[in-house]
Amino acid sequence: MIDFNTIFSKYVALANEAADKYVSEAAFGGRESVGLTKMLEVMAYSLKNGGKRIRPVLAMEFCRVCGANYEKALPFALGIEMIHTYSLIHDDLPCMDDDDMRRGKKSNHIVFGEANALLAGDGLLTLAFETVLSAPDVSSEAKAKAGLELAKAAGCSGMIAGQVMDLANENREASLDEIRETDRLKTGELIRASAVLGCIAADADEAKIKAAEEYCECIGLAFQIVDDILDVTSDAETLGKPVGSDSANKKSTYVSLLGLEKSAEYAEELTKRAKEALKIFGNGGEFLALLADRLLNRKN
Ligand code: IPE
Ligand code: IPE
Ligand code: MG
Ligand code: MG
Ligand code: MG
Repeated sequence: MIDFNTIFSKYVALANEAADKYVSEAAFGGRESVGLTKMLEVMAYSLKNGGKRIRPVLAMEFCRVCGANYEKALPFALGIEMIHTYSLIHDDLPCMDDDDMRRGKKSNHIVFGEANALLAGDGLLTLAFETVLSAPDVSSEAKAKAGLELAKAAGCSGMIAGQVMDLANENREASLDEIRETDRLKTGELIRASAVLGCIAADADEAKIKAAEEYCECIGLAFQIVDDILDVTSDAETLGKPVGSDSANKKSTYVSLLGLEKSAEYAEELTKRAKEALKIFGNGGEFLALLADRLLNRKN
């Protein structure tokens, strides 16, 4: 039996160290300006010292199970976490979910103002691609592939499309299929990209990439369902963000449509399916199987 917590913490520590390294004056050597110094402060506020780092963990672990050193995937992992963090900064803005707390602290726009929060999101989005495309230990071909996958997952055929649909689901009763599609796009696509970028860093074959995508399709959907459940059942201190945000915004979610119990059952079934997709990795998939369970039973 592997020591899940030790491995998880090792990946989180690597992601945090990389965040310190890439979001610093040194990383922008020769490009100093008052604007850069300000943006580094605003971006670092949201990126550093917070977040569960699930996406970087997925990228590094998929790189490892596909047979390469997990550190090869670290710049990809951090690039994804930058995009995820930008999506949260924008998601909290008054024009979107209007939430004043994130990762246990005041939301970015509460501290720095809406314009700086908007720009820090833009800054993180572009820095993410700079980071992915500057990865030192992977081939140019792998970097190009990773950049393209990430762009598709984060953009208008992925996360952005999902966020647009999520806003359109306010003040109306969306169907279950519409919610499934919204969640697949707004949350699932970046989770899928995390695994795929890890596979790309390891030059994995198509069969492994397909298995990774299947696993992520299930945990990605389960992740958003659990997020919606916690929005109803948890408290702001445990969660590090406000509760009741979905009902305040009159959003259709799995929970509003199916109720808590059926939503939890569905997340459980998805988790089971995710673990079945790991067969191709043999014993090497143990960490990912445990991760699926932890994400299902998470408290924040
Ligand atoms: C929150 O994501 C937004 C969703 C996609 C549900 P996380 O729960 O991974 O947030 P952090 O990174 O831990 O703050
Ligand atoms: C967020 O979904 C999805 C993205 C940011 C892409 P939510 O709006 O449910 O996330 P939280 O609950 O604010 O973290
Ligand atoms: Mg939202
Ligand atoms: Mg939100
Ligand atoms: Mg939520």
